[in-house]
Amino acid sequence: MATTTIEVEAAGKSRHNKLDRWVEEVAQMCKPDSIHWCDGSSQEQQSILQLLVLTGTAIPLDQAKRPNSYLVRSDPADVARVEDQTFICSKTKEQAGPTNNWEDPAKMKQKLAGLFTGSMAGRTMYVVPYSMGPIGSPISKIGVEVTDSPYVVVSMHIMSRVGSHVLDVLGADGEFVRGLHSVGAPLVPNQPNKPWNCNAEHKYICHFPETREIWSYGSGYGGNALLGKKCHALRIASVQARDEGWMAEHMLILKLISPSGQVKYMTGAFPSACGKTNLSMLIPTLPGWKVETIGDDIAWMKFGADGRLYAINPEFGFFGVAPGTSMKSNANAMLTVSRNAVFTNCAMTLDGDVWWEGMTKQKPSKLIDWLRRPWTPDSEGKAAHPNSRFTVAASQCPVIAPEWEDPKGVPIDAILFGGRRAGIVPLVTEAFNWRHGTFLGATVSSETTVAATGKVGQLRRDPMAMLPFCGYHMGDYFAHWLKMGTVTSASKLPKIFYVNWFRKEKDTSKDSNKNKDKEKDLAQAKFLWPGYGENSRVLKWIFERCDGKVHAKDTPIGRIPEVADLDTSGLDLPAAKVEALLNVDIEGWLAEVPSIKEHFAQFGTHLPEGLNAEVKELEQRLRAAK
Ligand code: OXD
Ligand code: MN
Repeated sequence: MATTTIEVEAAGKSRHNKLDRWVEEVAQMCKPDSIHWCDGSSQEQQSILQLLVLTGTAIPLDQAKRPNSYLVRSDPADVARVEDQTFICSKTKEQAGPTNNWEDPAKMKQKLAGLFTGSMAGRTMYVVPYSMGPIGSPISKIGVEVTDSPYVVVSMHIMSRVGSHVLDVLGADGEFVRGLHSVGAPLVPNQPNKPWNCNAEHKYICHFPETREIWSYGSGYGGNALLGKKCHALRIASVQARDEGWMAEHMLILKLISPSGQVKYMTGAFPSACGKTNLSMLIPTLPGWKVETIGDDIAWMKFGADGRLYAINPEFGFFGVAPGTSMKSNANAMLTVSRNAVFTNCAMTLDGDVWWEGMTKQKPSKLIDWLRRPWTPDSEGKAAHPNSRFTVAASQCPVIAPEWEDPKGVPIDAILFGGRRAGIVPLVTEAFNWRHGTFLGATVSSETTVAATGKVGQLRRDPMAMLPFCGYHMGDYFAHWLKMGTVTSASKLPKIFYVNWFRKEKDTSKDSNKNKDKEKDLAQAKFLWPGYGENSRVLKWIFERCDGKVHAKDTPIGRIPEVADLDTSGLDLPAAKVEALLNVDIEGWLAEVPSIKEHFAQFGTHLPEGLNAEVKELEQRLRAAK
């Protein structure tokens, strides 16, 4: 066999024939120089980090300032998830639905086999067995990522539970998700290795839901390459969850503790740029209240024998956006990354630390930017890439909940949805019931920011914040949500809420003036709600609603607190502003109905009848209130 020429190092093969055979097949196709089976030990992590330093990929940061931490700078052609090159290769296009790119699985495999053939020449192929979720939890799943990127191996060690103990759980015949990854940069003899390897021409992030496979080619960055995260824990897992009757969601998990020590667990789905990581580690301003973190990005939820919905965080670390993170916006994240962290595409200070926009009020006078160029505040462009990241163990978070690795998960009391809306959407709305809550999730919307699109206040619907992550037809995914609401009694289901921290004094999204004026208006309009730690006041109302202890009034769009129901003690916020935050703008909502109908129309016959009924009932309630 051709693999006899390949050197196999480290922990050796598994006891799992199918896994060994697959690794051999992949090696024959990709032709690496050697194979390394990862044992997950800290010695292994340190020696791969050392390799990254010696090959010029990573720079060790100043040991006194940020112990055992590293900066990596990628190639400008490889800085973010590539949604337009991400494919769901289900048997039919219809199964992937209108919100996913699709290609026929056989055709895509053929194309990929061409690209992967010889793609690891001159490199080591790492075999990374990982568990998404605590080892041995009935909610956890195993995957194996084969990759030629040592940076990916180091990141996977931080982001998931990696190593020989995973192979022990897998045994001789356990199920696992197969993830094949190559940066697509084979080396011919005497060709110099680059600090960051990727393929500038071809990138494919492909999912084969029927065979639970991921093939990722050409990118070494984030969700494209750390296959346990978005590819496995959301796209493939959403299909597994549908088939097996559980939920794989793009949600943070937080624990809210009241002054008397009572606890509620909440999950929350928000589109990007809405402060999900910040909310998961919130420091409440309300005296006596406390938030502890279970997860900041993904929740896997399964009904327990007691009929309640239990959630685990399948991840082991945080892969957070750095810019905007500061002691003011998220002190806990700042403390989490104070050591043992890998930073990617951040700027570097002259004394060997990292910096990013928003970290400090005052910009350092001199930096090295993420493109390795000297930088001053007068330089053009940002010092850190807007999608620069920190990768760090979740266990380092000062407010990580002691039960965050409980294999049975935590029982969820409330599910939050939210988006960034300048107008119409109140600070908080409680769904009438699970079906109405599913409707709120299915219509999640956020206004795009100037930086993101150049078009101000443009509404993007991002159902359950899963638009880029649902591994099958979104209409069927809505149906799955409705089905989950029928497997237990209504009283045991989490209550569902919709929050909007971003309502403004002036609803700039409704202005019909030109884009340029809108930009100015948007920049000038002030947020009504102070945000950050004050969001705990909204969480308190949600907490008390879960116990039926605080009042809410029924409105056509859901249940809303009255001004007196929201604890604004000690907050310098005039009642008129709270009223504006909680106002239900009937005309505005009636104007919103056609956009909801248009959004739903794309799902055709896959849209469950329950959601059609919800739009109709919303319209009727709004008309009756006019
Ligand atoms: C993420 C994302 O990186 O949602 O978590 O894009
Ligand atoms: Mn995310």
